[in-house]
Amino acid sequence: MRRFLVLGHRASTSPQFSLDDLAGGAGRIDILLNAANAALLVAHGLRADVEVGLVLLGPPDPPRLVRLLGHRLRSFQPDIRSNAALLRRALEHGSRVERETSPGILARRATLEEALDVLGPTFVYLKEGGKDIRTFALPADATWVLSDNQDLSADEERAVLDRGAIPVGLGSVALHTDHAIAVVHNELDRRLP
Ligand SMILES: C[S@@+](CC[C@H](N)C(=O)[O-])C[C@H]1O[C@@H](n2cnc3c(N)ncnc32)[C@H](O)[C@@H]1O
Repeated sequence: MRRFLVLGHRASTSPQFSLDDLAGGAGRIDILLNAANAALLVAHGLRADVEVGLVLLGPPDPPRLVRLLGHRLRSFQPDIRSNAALLRRALEHGSRVERETSPGILARRATLEEALDVLGPTFVYLKEGGKDIRTFALPADATWVLSDNQDLSADEERAVLDRGAIPVGLGSVALHTDHAIAVVHNELDRRLP
């Protein structure tokens, strides 16, 4: 199982965010949706062995955790605008008790720490300048933690490192979040027996 946890620091938690302004008024929800696509989609389908956790921390009602389970998703599209509509439906559910709001999409209110508890127990923290992924024996069944266009705050980083996460780097160039996920998939795919 591969898991990716992505933080959206300004990502809207309104179920009415505009589908026409994902990169603006919706607080860079495009970054989260592009990351989910990179994690879940291959050329002719979905990766059934992938789970994505999106932590949305923007106004008006944070924090939220939305999980996407590759083996259960039914209506997930390469088109992020369609997936944004599924995310809006997930945001209608603001309870702390998780509920499946569409096939393969689960929503609940949760802090980063609670999201880490749900997606753990083994973490790799993708961080520029971290230990080179190519020199590293990667743990099986790890959850890869990434940020959006803002680095993790000191408190967020501490929460991740306190759970034993190893900081791993993908080279000297700062990549977009979705591109970083594509590189991780490729590194892991190439190590498959
Ligand atoms: C756009 S980057 C974060 C912002 C970046 N620090 C900047 O200078 O704009 C998004 C995320 O992708 C991951 N990432 C991007 N490039 C990486 C690299 N070279 N090594 C490891 N992780 C990387 C990290 O998790 C990072 O938080």
